[in-house]
Amino acid sequence: MSKLEDIRTHALSLIEGVSDLLVLDNARTKILGRKSELSLFLRSLKDMPPENQRGVGAAANALRAELEELFEEKRRELSAASYESVLKGERIDVTRPGLKHARGHIHPISRVIKDIVSIFSSMGFEVVEGPEVETEYYNFDALNIPANHPARDMWDTFWLKPESRTHADSISADGRGKLQRESAMEKSQRGSALLLRTHTSPVQVRYMENHNPPLKIIVPGRAYRYEATDASHEFQFFQLEGLVVDRQISIANFKGVIQEFFSRLFKKEIIVRLRPSFFPFVEPGFEVDISCVACAGAGCSICKKSGWLELAGAGMVHQNVFKAAGYTPGEWQGFAFGFGIDRIAMMKYKIPDIRLFHSGDLRFLKQF
Ligand code: DAH
Repeated sequence: MSKLEDIRTHALSLIEGVSDLLVLDNARTKILGRKSELSLFLRSLKDMPPENQRGVGAAANALRAELEELFEEKRRELSAASYESVLKGERIDVTRPGLKHARGHIHPISRVIKDIVSIFSSMGFEVVEGPEVETEYYNFDALNIPANHPARDMWDTFWLKPESRTHADSISADGRGKLQRESAMEKSQRGSALLLRTHTSPVQVRYMENHNPPLKIIVPGRAYRYEATDASHEFQFFQLEGLVVDRQISIANFKGVIQEFFSRLFKKEIIVRLRPSFFPFVEPGFEVDISCVACAGAGCSICKKSGWLELAGAGMVHQNVFKAAGYTPGEWQGFAFGFGIDRIAMMKYKIPDIRLFHSGDLRFLKQF
């Protein structure tokens, strides 16, 4: 009888300590399986004296039934617990905020272009675009910059080689090199050579060829220069060209328009100053300075203590440009101007390096 007691004690402590279904299964085999102590004991009953067999047999079978019941109970307990834990793991919290999709936003340059366009539109200007791959004729000749004229040196140009215009490797160095290598055939086609436009000014002539005055246009777009990059120079950048043509247009008109424009763009009173300068497509030509947006003219590090920022080139449209567009010389007057959009964006958002705009650096872009 004490043998059955031992088996019972051992079994109870085993069942007590089990915490998962697999271990419980193994324990059950060990206690109630065919090779278990209890089974062996039951099988050995037949060797006992017959008078003992009844009582011991009944006790052993009762123990077996009791243990089976205990195992079953434990199994129910453990499987309920594991079901619960699965449910818990799979629970959906419908009140939890959903996953947010990353949202894109407008590039700082595009944002400034939008601002510029909306100001000029409100003043009655039409927005016009032109090709970035331009002909030598529109980029230079039509703008009163003839071949071999030293003024071409003002624009370091990416020329596209005629023999392989479609290939990326066809971009060659500046014009002087090209002219030396020019064949007789190329010479006869001069003006039709292709280049990446060095400014947005060619769109002036393209537009005037198809439209009669009076006209007021702005041309936002990319321009390219064959030059080394640094914090304030990129080989591709954005410009804004402006052109107003009518019978009586004066420099005073230009000054009024540009002063109003910059005051609205920077949301403060801006004073404009014009200094004589040379651009082949205007006469007279001038540099356009605005009172410093940071110190309002007092002098600071941004304006290098001068109180002024040099922002644009401008002038009264040269009659040769009207001639190239097919207008009768002497019949029309107009002003034209051009400035760098990147530079304006840099001032507006206090960006220290122009190269950041096209760096693709998300740490920079995410700030806008
Ligand atoms: N196209 C000139 C440049 O890129 C800028 C410019 C100067 C445009 C004077 C004009 C102008 O329309 O009148 O340097």
